[in-house]
Amino acid sequence: MKRFAIFAVLLAAAPGAALAADAEAGRAVFKSQCSTCHSPVQGKNAVGPSLFGIVGRTSGKVEGFHYSEANKAAGLTWDVATLDKYLTSPKTVVKGTIMSYAGVKDDAKRADLIAYLETLK
Ligand code: HEC
Repeated sequence: MKRFAIFAVLLAAAPGAALAADAEAGRAVFKSQCSTCHSPVQGKNAVGPSLFGIVGRTSGKVEGFHYSEANKAAGLTWDVATLDKYLTSPKTVVKGTIMSYAGVKDDAKRADLIAYLETLK
């Protein structure tokens, strides 16, 4: 959590500089943890919806993807704070989600991952 707080401050202060290193590490986290179900490419849905442009997007809005009722009704904005909570424990934030993924428990890895997700635009 502490590392995330620092990351959030850096993000606000100097996005470019703070993101470079973290996003690269986050790309590897994405590859090993998310890419079996999610593509970073716009319009490419797989088991899960494309994560292109995910940061700042409203939940359940990827065209052509069949979400669960839970995800459709969640009414979340995927900002950094919400993604941090969700990616810690998806089922806690979206009860009834069909994303069968336990979560990224390591704070630093999660912050890196979210930095990578921010580059997908
Ligand atoms: C086993 C497959 C699987 C894995 C692994 C997985 N996801 Fe998902 N994800 C899904 C599915 C399926 C959904 C749609 C959930 C629903 O409709 O309830 C989803 C939904 C999401 C959403 C919400 C999208 C939206 O438009 O509202 C986000 C954000 C997300 N996943 C991020 C991630 C990240 C980041 C990882 C890696 C840490 C990950 N997921 C790992 C299958 C997966």
